[in-house]
Amino acid sequence: MLTQEEFILPSIQIMPSILAADFGDLRAECNRLIDAGADQLHIDVMDGVFVPNISFGTKAVELVSGNVPLNVHLMIIDPLKYIDAYIQAGSNTISIHVESKSDIAQTLKLIQSSGVRAGITLNPKTSNECIYKYLDMGIVDEILVMSVEPGFGGQQYMSGVEAKLKDLRERWPEIDIAVDGGIDDTNIASAVKNGANLLVSGSHLYRQGSLKEAISELRNIALQNQ
Ligand code: DX5
Ligand code: ZN
Repeated sequence: MLTQEEFILPSIQIMPSILAADFGDLRAECNRLIDAGADQLHIDVMDGVFVPNISFGTKAVELVSGNVPLNVHLMIIDPLKYIDAYIQAGSNTISIHVESKSDIAQTLKLIQSSGVRAGITLNPKTSNECIYKYLDMGIVDEILVMSVEPGFGGQQYMSGVEAKLKDLRERWPEIDIAVDGGIDDTNIASAVKNGANLLVSGSHLYRQGSLKEAISELRNIALQNQ
C-alpha cells in the first residue's frame, strides 16, 4: 500500500532515449531497452530546421511501438502539421517545443483531444514564464525541461536547469516533469531533488556494460532522492 506521500508524488520513471541506440536494428534495440526495465521509450524527432540534425520520422515510431509507452519529443519547427501523423504512428505522449512556430495552445489541445498526453518543452535559454499560461489553461500533461541544447545526444548536463525544475515543481506539485540531456549517475539525484520525476537518459546508459544494471542504478538513485 502506498503511503500518502508516495501517492501524491508523481512517479519516478526512467525513459531511455533511443537516439543513442543502434539504428541498424531499432526494433531489437527497443526490445532490449524494454527487457532492461525502461518505463517509457523516449524518441527524439528532429527536422534539421528547428535543430541542426535530422533523426526519426513516423516510420520509426511505428516500428518501435511495443509494450511500453512511447514518449515522442518533437524538435520540429511546425509540430501542428504533424500531430495526426505521430498519433497514428502510436505515440502515447507528444511533446512540442514552446519555441516552435505552431500555435502552441491549438497544438496542445489537438494532442489532448486525440487522447494522447500533451507535453510542453523548453530549451535551456527559454524562461519558465513562457510556459506558465499553457499550464494554467490545463492543456499540459507533462513538462519536458531541456538540460542541453536540443539536437544531439552525448552532451554535458547543464546544472542551471535545476532552478527551473524547482520553480516548476513548486508551482505544479503533481504534474509530470521530465528532464532531458546528459542525465547520468552523477547528476540524476540533484535533478530529482529539484523536482524532475521523468528521467531521459541516452548516452550514459549505452556507455555501461549492462543496460539493465544501468537503468536500475539510475532508478534507485532517483527513488532515494525523491
Ligand atoms: C537531445 C535529445 C535528448 C538526448 C538525450 O536533443 O532531446 O533526448 O537524446 O541523450 P543524452 O542522454 O545522450 O544526452
Ligand atoms: Zn529528447
